[in-house]
Amino acid sequence: MDDVIAVNAPIRVAQLGCGTVGSHVARLLLSGTDLSAHIGHPLQVTGIAVRHLDKARPGIDPALLTTDSESLVDDADVVVEVIGGIEPARTLILRAMAHGASIVTANKALLAAHGPELYASAEANGVDLYFEAAVAGAIPIIRPLRESLVGDEILCVKGIVNGTTNFILDEMTNSGMSFADALGLAQELGFAEPDPTADVEGFDAAAKASLLASLGFRTQILGDEVSRDGITSVTTDDIEAANRLGYVIKLLACAKPLDADPTQISVWVRPTMVPLSHPLANVHGGNNAIFVESRNAGRLMFMGPGAGGAPTASAVLGDLVTVARNRVAGVHLPPTMDSGSRRAASHGDAMTSAYIALTVADSPGVLARIASVFAAHQVSISTVHQGPSDARSAVLDITTHCSRWGDVQDSVAELKTLTDVVHGDIRVYAVEGN
Ligand SMILES: NC(=O)c1ccc[n+]([C@@H]2O[C@H](COP(=O)([O-])OP(=O)(O)OC[C@H]3O[C@@H](n4cnc5c(N)ncnc54)[C@H](OP(=O)(O)O)[C@@H]3O)[C@@H](O)[C@H]2O)c1
Repeated sequence: MDDVIAVNAPIRVAQLGCGTVGSHVARLLLSGTDLSAHIGHPLQVTGIAVRHLDKARPGIDPALLTTDSESLVDDADVVVEVIGGIEPARTLILRAMAHGASIVTANKALLAAHGPELYASAEANGVDLYFEAAVAGAIPIIRPLRESLVGDEILCVKGIVNGTTNFILDEMTNSGMSFADALGLAQELGFAEPDPTADVEGFDAAAKASLLASLGFRTQILGDEVSRDGITSVTTDDIEAANRLGYVIKLLACAKPLDADPTQISVWVRPTMVPLSHPLANVHGGNNAIFVESRNAGRLMFMGPGAGGAPTASAVLGDLVTVARNRVAGVHLPPTMDSGSRRAASHGDAMTSAYIALTVADSPGVLARIASVFAAHQVSISTVHQGPSDARSAVLDITTHCSRWGDVQDSVAELKTLTDVVHGDIRVYAVEGN
């Protein structure tokens, strides 16, 4: 669309949602930061769509509230979507773009499920679609991937993109709490939702990983194409074993092209052993951090608050200024993702080192049998440590060289069949950052 705004005419901003993030955005827009100097035009909030008109919203003029989202978006230059979820956010955004409005959204779930449709609509309508707040709250990471590093070649993007699970794993590591107790504490302190599924099962991190992978590797990968494991089965024993070997367990999101075929991007989220010396090992509590490796810039790390009303509002306002400036200039950001030749690699093809802990019979020849299983699946062992043992059995902590994740899984499946030598559960983790 790229309509040029008339001299001194305000840029009409319609806001959808006024909850945790939206209430901060609204307060900042209405009474805090004067953004007009950065834009060269005043901003005018034309209305704020909510579900419940009668909710108390301190600092927000009730006259701005409406339940008529459709009329609001039909008459806007920029729509800020902070409702969340798929519908009605998707339909409202498509409608707004068809009417020529640019979009600022914090909605990772929507972008991870319907990104291609939304990017195509933005392009067809000549408008902007910005979403810095959708990944890692306040941390600028979308813009660096989309703009600052666009002249470079990204080699790998990995990070901690979910504060709830980072808080829980931190508590388990530092206080020896069980998963259930650490989750309870997170809920008590407001770090976890009453229904924590999206966080603890890794869905939220997978949605963010799909956006990071799509931007980093100029493709379009959906949230459900991300290989995903949550943290519900991580035990304090696993954490202690990791520590013994010089690692900490983090829920890591990782995206990188396969060496064997760089058109295939491996994208996964899973509890991962990270060396204590790696910068990601020192990201604590609700913080997020994203580590980017690129051909020319080298290794970069972005860290800070990954959620919360005020931090996320900061990212929303940054986007708002950018899209408003673009409206004033009559331009929009060209597409930075394409649906071309790159695609998500199959889950089994992801390459990573692995850690496997298993309890085995303490008798001659056992180690050779275990080693032969890995060898048969082309998994090369890097280290073997004997952990706590009693008279009849021993715990083996095995790490592998970088291997196909599918081959590691196949090895573990075969080890489980060796019931005469392998006793009980086998624990498996990816190991990253050596
Ligand atoms: N919370 C965070 O820390 C955080 C961080 C990064 C990104 N995000 C993203 O930001 C977005 C908003 O999250 P949030 O935590 O602010 O959500 P929230 O607290 O649940 O707020 C949602 C808001 O949307 C309104 N709403 C819901 N359905 C609506 C409908 N059909 N029509 C109009 N308004 C409707 C609600 O109205 P009522 O107030 O009347 O109920 C509420 O004001 C999500 O996409 C989320 O993933 C959040």
